[in-house]
Amino acid sequence: MDVVKLHPALGAEVRGVDLSKPVDATTKAAIAQAFNDHIVLVFKDQTLDETSQLAAGEIFGPVAIRRRPPGRQPGGDYDTPFMLVTNIVRPDGSSLGAFGDGEMWFHHDTSYYPEPHRATLLYAMKLPTHGGNTCFSNMYMAYENIPRPLRDRLEGRRVLQIHDYKRRERLNLDEIDFAKTRHFEQPIIITHPKTGRKALYISRLMSARIEGFSKAESEDALEQLFEIAENPAIVFEHEWSLGDMVIWDNWCSIHARKDFPRDQERLMRRLTIEGQAMSF
Ligand SMILES: [Fe+2]
Repeated sequence: MDVVKLHPALGAEVRGVDLSKPVDATTKAAIAQAFNDHIVLVFKDQTLDETSQLAAGEIFGPVAIRRRPPGRQPGGDYDTPFMLVTNIVRPDGSSLGAFGDGEMWFHHDTSYYPEPHRATLLYAMKLPTHGGNTCFSNMYMAYENIPRPLRDRLEGRRVLQIHDYKRRERLNLDEIDFAKTRHFEQPIIITHPKTGRKALYISRLMSARIEGFSKAESEDALEQLFEIAENPAIVFEHEWSLGDMVIWDNWCSIHARKDFPRDQERLMRRLTIEGQAMSF
């Protein structure tokens, strides 16, 4: 097994591992270490069915079952570990999966849960001819890049993480029905539970309001933090190929999707790894 760095800030390709076959304990340990070191791992030319993708996921921790939102009927994409990230529509007009098409702003997955997922794993099954790249940003580096006075003001504070799948728009809190919208107040700066390193924990898509700040102070600080978090110097952009399996650390990175042609199909099979509460 070889680990080849893909970008100075984050991202590495793992070569010499066929995830469709059983992986020995030594290799699993090396992969887990590479994951902590590089935040995003890319495994190319993989042929994965659901069983082998699940086994690949378990290298990184217990695979999470997708929770149904309150009131939603059982079945579909819920109550299983798999989710299809796709714009493909069934003959009856319903969506085959979720997060359809187009651009998606930077975010952590499930930051609005009390225990955000540890990692997300995507396997590329169908791709457009161009576009749809996924960008990842290193939130350890973002933390280091916060100017000292602002960092001091953020110490020990929480931010409201909220999501209602708008994808390209910040939420207007005055119009939100909180009873129907998943949300949770998280530390703005977390200590990564596995590495012990501090990371910035905000995103343009989901971070709405800093607790204890006035609305204007909060907007001002968040805008500065979004710029720091999205600084191109700390962003690795992955251009997908069929058979790519990519896993990212969802505690110390944010990710965004670039636009792609609406008339072309894109299909990813997604798994997430169980998380835990975030702490200062
Ligand atoms: Fe995501």
